[in-house]
Amino acid sequence: MPKPPATPMIAPSILAADFARLAEETAAVAGADWLHVDVMDNHFVPNLTLGMPVVESLLKVTDIPMDCHLMIAAPERWAPPYAEAGAHNVTFHAEATDNPIAVARDIRAAGAKAGLAVKPGTPLEPYLEILRDFDTLLIMSVEPGFGGQKFIPEVLPKVETARRLVDAGELKILVEIDGGINDETIEAAAAAGVDCFVAGSAVYGVEEPAAAVRSLREQAAKASPHLRL
Ligand code: DX5
Ligand code: ZN
Repeated sequence: MPKPPATPMIAPSILAADFARLAEETAAVAGADWLHVDVMDNHFVPNLTLGMPVVESLLKVTDIPMDCHLMIAAPERWAPPYAEAGAHNVTFHAEATDNPIAVARDIRAAGAKAGLAVKPGTPLEPYLEILRDFDTLLIMSVEPGFGGQKFIPEVLPKVETARRLVDAGELKILVEIDGGINDETIEAAAAAGVDCFVAGSAVYGVEEPAAAVRSLREQAAKASPHLRL
């Protein structure tokens, strides 16, 4: 039996925020479902952002559940501390480890939800079995590393596959999309079956970030039968 419609989740990405004013920028998206925090190590991706000290400070100033997206090598070593610190969801990349199940287990044991991220060119099939051990599937719709890139619609069949498996009761995961989500792309992503939409520039690049969160949520809800407000 198909699952009843759920409210679309919007996860503003602070990668597009002013890093000198992170507490205020976090407050500016009050009402968001998750706060998406992009951790990059200049190794797994060719960019460097922030790590544990900033996450720990942010956790003290916000009640929005934190969604840590780790674009880092060796997640088996570095991911669990984000869960221990109090992140709600900790997502690492399938391409970054040989033992994703063990990393997911450690994240969950430390009290967070565990997410698996796949780059645009990474197929889903090899991971479908192990997704039973995850709470979140993050499908990248740009190459990880930078905000403000163009949405890659070719990833949508992966969203459709995940949606089908969730609706059939074979997987219990939240389907999240990340990269290039804005008022021109969110409807296609919603129609394909996304539950949670990461948006960086579309939220922080406008005058009123909280209003952008609301309007993206409304747009997503209208575009898909599996979502409603
Ligand atoms: C890219 C990051 C994204 C990025 C999204 O590597 O994972 O979360 O911040 O930014 P926009 O929405 O601007 O594409
Ligand atoms: Zn991200």
